[in-house]
Amino acid sequence: MVKIFELENIISIKDFTRSDIDYILNEASTLENVAQSKEISEELKGKILGLMFFEPSTRTKMSFETAMKRLSGQCIGFENTGSSSVSKGESIADTAKMYEGYCDALVIRHELEGVSKFISDVVDVPVINAGDGAGQHPTQTLLDLYTIKKEIGNIDNIKIALIGDLKYGRTVHSLANALTLYDNVELYFVSPPELKMPQEILHDLDKVGMSYKEVSNISDIIDKVNVLYVTRIQKERFVDIEDYLKIKGAYIINKKMLEGKDLIVMHPLPRIDEIACDVDDTKYNKYFTQAANAVPIRMAILKTLIKNNPK
Ligand code: NCD
Repeated sequence: MVKIFELENIISIKDFTRSDIDYILNEASTLENVAQSKEISEELKGKILGLMFFEPSTRTKMSFETAMKRLSGQCIGFENTGSSSVSKGESIADTAKMYEGYCDALVIRHELEGVSKFISDVVDVPVINAGDGAGQHPTQTLLDLYTIKKEIGNIDNIKIALIGDLKYGRTVHSLANALTLYDNVELYFVSPPELKMPQEILHDLDKVGMSYKEVSNISDIIDKVNVLYVTRIQKERFVDIEDYLKIKGAYIINKKMLEGKDLIVMHPLPRIDEIACDVDDTKYNKYFTQAANAVPIRMAILKTLIKNNPK
């Protein structure tokens, strides 16, 4: 049988073609009933997923666990290094080798860029990057694209503003890279000057001739877009906390600003203060739906990778 999805690891969204993304998005929609517990699936019965979370996580870890369990698989792992032998000084490579012996696939979150790639080079089971420092967060991007497609109907032709911490936010790095695969996207970057999109990503966009505009005020773009993608200022990545305090609260979206607009508000979460709670009960709020979409998307990823790459 010809394999349509050839990737063995999910490290960076830059490794995806548009048809790879379509494959996962289509697979996710066929798994919606299982994700919502309306149907039972035994697709991954007997399989074990290893979760190595060196950095905190709520949604990513829980949705990978839910996805694996909905497919009748099981999970093992840790969410702080204190409960693993990493705290005794074991190297990441040795820990990963142990997991390779026990699991059918590995999900890694780490504060350093490149760690998932490094691990994928030392183990033979599929490795999924669940966020590497300020680098990439490819599975978040897949669920972001899935949400846009479901809510707007298309990804081509969208007008989207990425707002907040564009320097350290890995979700916006992956999303900007992915949008280069779509046609006629109008892309705006809204951030304080200190937290602009890194040159490396701008270079990726320039290379494929994708245009974008960098602005510093939400009022410059709010009437132009159909998606506001809001992000948290990544406090943990600041070297000097004073710099964080100066910028904190720079952008806050509230209900009044949105009234009469034809747009949706997305956020990878956690939110701190960048979306006021009065937006939660409005039609603009798609951030909780977005978080729920993580389950069918991560089911599609796990099913595809584990079935395509049996041990
Ligand atoms: C994001 C992350 O960890 O990069 N959260 C997530 O995975 N949904 C965003 C963030 O922490 O701000």
